[in-house]
Amino acid sequence: MKDYSFSFEELDRFSNSDPYNFVPKHYSSLLRELNHCEKSLNFPAIKNDVGQLLAFFFSVQRPKRVFEMGSGYGHSAFWYFLGANETLEEVILTEKRTDLESVFNQLPWPVNWKNRMSYIQGDAFNALDELNRPADFFLVDGVKADYLRFIKLALPKLSSDGLIAIDNSYWRGSFLNASVRAKKKSAQSIHELHTWIGNQKNLKSIFVPFLDGLTLIKKL
Ligand SMILES: C[S@@+](CC[C@H](N)C(=O)[O-])C[C@H]1O[C@@H](n2cnc3c(N)ncnc32)[C@H](O)[C@@H]1O
Repeated sequence: MKDYSFSFEELDRFSNSDPYNFVPKHYSSLLRELNHCEKSLNFPAIKNDVGQLLAFFFSVQRPKRVFEMGSGYGHSAFWYFLGANETLEEVILTEKRTDLESVFNQLPWPVNWKNRMSYIQGDAFNALDELNRPADFFLVDGVKADYLRFIKLALPKLSSDGLIAIDNSYWRGSFLNASVRAKKKSAQSIHELHTWIGNQKNLKSIFVPFLDGLTLIKKL
């Protein structure tokens, strides 16, 4: 049999290459600024291929309200607006770190995007607790040990056609290895999360194998 083996790194490089093909010219300078922040702050922002996938979904799903756990300086919001600029009403960004709100504020966001973004410097759990309107999309992108608790609290606030996306949800499958789970709390938490999701009769989920994986969940 022919050997078609390749490295994950090569595949990641390929799927993340030339994102500007997907981005209208007038937004490419903002994306360059965001990518510059990612590098200069050494921040684990959402990768271009996951961002493009979210923009693609948004152009179909047309969510009105988005809530993000763990937003950094707001990199992912770029992809939300790219996909659903016409329909988005509110993008709620939450970030625990205190040093990133000023970065968010200094970025050259289009005014009509910034008007629809609420940047909450603080714990996503508190912001979620205060959310008194349904959200159509949640991005879960904070500390892995918190994901399951967050998702259980977010589900009642997810609209009927809404989606929850969990970034880096598979860790290259390392959570499947019992000895990794015994050493790494994150792997154990991810394992518990997937076991729980798999047991929910009222949820449907799918794994998208980008980078460390993206899991999408919807209510049935
Ligand atoms: C992977 S980064 C987020 C990347 C971001 N979603 C983006 O696309 O650029 C994770 C961030 O989540 C933040 N975080 C972790 N737990 C949080 C919580 N409970 N509430 C708010 N932010 C949190 C961390 O401080 C960190 O900046």
